[in-house]
Amino acid sequence: MYYPEEVIEEVRLRNDIVEVVSGYVKLERKGRRYFGLCPFHGEKTPSFCVEPAKQFFYCFGCNKGGSVIQFIMSIENLDFPEALKHLAERAGITLPEPDDNAEREKSRIRKEILDINKEAARFFFSVLAGKNGLEAQGYLKKRGLTEKTIRRFGLGLAPAGWNELTETLLAKGVSDELLIASGLSVRAKSGELIDRFRGRIMFPIFDIRGNIVGFGGRVMDQSQPKYLNSPDTPVYNKSRELYGLNFARQSKIKKLLMVEGYMDVISLHQAGIDYAVASLGTALTQMQAWILKKYAEEVIIGYDSDSAGQAATMRGIDILERAGCNVRILLIPDGKDPDEYIRNNGPEKFKNLIDRAISLLDYKIRAENKMHNLDTVEDKLKLLNSIADILAAHDNSIERELYSKYYAEQYGISLESLANEVAKRRKKLESVRNGPAASRRPAGSDRESQPAVKIDSRYGELEYMLLVMLCNDNHLFGRISARYGLEDFNDQGAKKVAEKLYGRLEQNKDCVLAELLADLDSNTASFVVRIAETKCDLENNEKATDQILNKLELLKLEELQKQTIERIKNEKDGEIRQRLGLEFSKRAERIAELKRLA
Ligand code: CTP
Ligand code: MN
Repeated sequence: MYYPEEVIEEVRLRNDIVEVVSGYVKLERKGRRYFGLCPFHGEKTPSFCVEPAKQFFYCFGCNKGGSVIQFIMSIENLDFPEALKHLAERAGITLPEPDDNAEREKSRIRKEILDINKEAARFFFSVLAGKNGLEAQGYLKKRGLTEKTIRRFGLGLAPAGWNELTETLLAKGVSDELLIASGLSVRAKSGELIDRFRGRIMFPIFDIRGNIVGFGGRVMDQSQPKYLNSPDTPVYNKSRELYGLNFARQSKIKKLLMVEGYMDVISLHQAGIDYAVASLGTALTQMQAWILKKYAEEVIIGYDSDSAGQAATMRGIDILERAGCNVRILLIPDGKDPDEYIRNNGPEKFKNLIDRAISLLDYKIRAENKMHNLDTVEDKLKLLNSIADILAAHDNSIERELYSKYYAEQYGISLESLANEVAKRRKKLESVRNGPAASRRPAGSDRESQPAVKIDSRYGELEYMLLVMLCNDNHLFGRISARYGLEDFNDQGAKKVAEKLYGRLEQNKDCVLAELLADLDSNTASFVVRIAETKCDLENNEKATDQILNKLELLKLEELQKQTIERIKNEKDGEIRQRLGLEFSKRAERIAELKRLA
């Protein structure tokens, strides 16, 4: 059975591997990984780990590994389509079945809802532009929005009457059922259909492709609720959409600024900060975090600085960190939201705030700091211990060192003793991370631990390493493809993976390793994840990539040298022999250079 790539990816994204595995294995968090007893071979000390940021599992004991899909295949003993179905059900996704009438009907309804949403947005827009829209126009103007911004975001006005939109759409032949399914109309007690949104400024919500999937509506006075939003419908799921992402993903700046509200996003875009997005009236969800991670190298949290905003920031940090995002936190003075701040202080001042956004580490330590008053020695001790905990859990060694220096100075202790404490804690973490890897392979499980994959003995591992590096950091594509094109791949399996990965990146689509794993048989998947876990877990991606490329080049050149020697031996024509000799010595130079670099 064939499923489109996007569907497989959606199933994967909606099934967080930590949650799924937790249903079978008791997991414990150690640093950035979770560890537990491997369900695929008998063991007494945990060597089975799950990488939340990379969304795969790997057992250092039996070398089994893969994405959430392979985990379910193995543990439930299912084939790929069955595992996909299982996970789709778990996440409440209906898989398309090409021959299934019900499914075709659903996709027809989805399309119709998108169409009437577009109609509705046009209607709201024209009401805003019309004579009944003057008050609303005044309101938007007072809030600093220009005509151009209003048009770009498709803002509109829902008339104050009971059923103007409903009547308009009914007159166009839209059915009652569809009006209700779209969330635009609701059935009143009297049985009549009435408009859900009345007397509100309307904000269409776009999906990534620019379809209007729902609406938010704001009152123009102090009445409650301030915002009314579309309910979840066949085209809208509020835990998934991010307001403004359709624009933000096209920004030249590969960051995303997470803010709280519609108005924040709009003001920011108007001010030229075109990478702002908002989660819609809900706390940030794990799924939104995965999506953010897909589109940005860095996520800046710019929530309100009131206490609700700060609590949301802490929650957001955990969720984003778990998705593997690089996070910084924007500190907005005086409890303001970004929209208010920009209106009072202008875009330039706001951009300065962005430049000064603090690191996650700094934010966590500041928060810790606020909880202690440092009056007593005991209190100071507690704070420093928590700081050591936070620093030790942080993977970037440069930041660790810098902040250790900074905090030692700030709290008047020696750098040495703080660094010692951090090192002690790191050692503990590392021993858990790496301990089971090489030292304790389970005895007697050789057959399992040697994946029966046909992998080119010389090129295979290096080529897969290259692909893993490229998945870890899609921006290496230029660097890698310039030196190693598709035609250079020797290992047939790696070549197939490369074809898909290069194809995606050429079209400027992103790709993570867990996504590629879906196509691999379970042995190859295990092999690739082993490489990712044991050989490509590096701090300097670029340098490591160059080294792999050098090794591959070296292999290839040495092979050519051998061939050239054979040819020289058999060549009668002196001129050709001379030319071959020249080639040989040129190559020898490059080989010497590469060996020096290694
Ligand atoms: N929200 C909601 N329902 C509410 C209140 C808020 O859905 N009753 C959501 C909206 O998406 C809103 C966001 O939460 O944009 C943030 O709320 P808030 O800060 O109160 O609103 P602002 O976006 O700042 O709106 P404004 O500046 O117009 O007051
Ligand atoms: Mn606001």
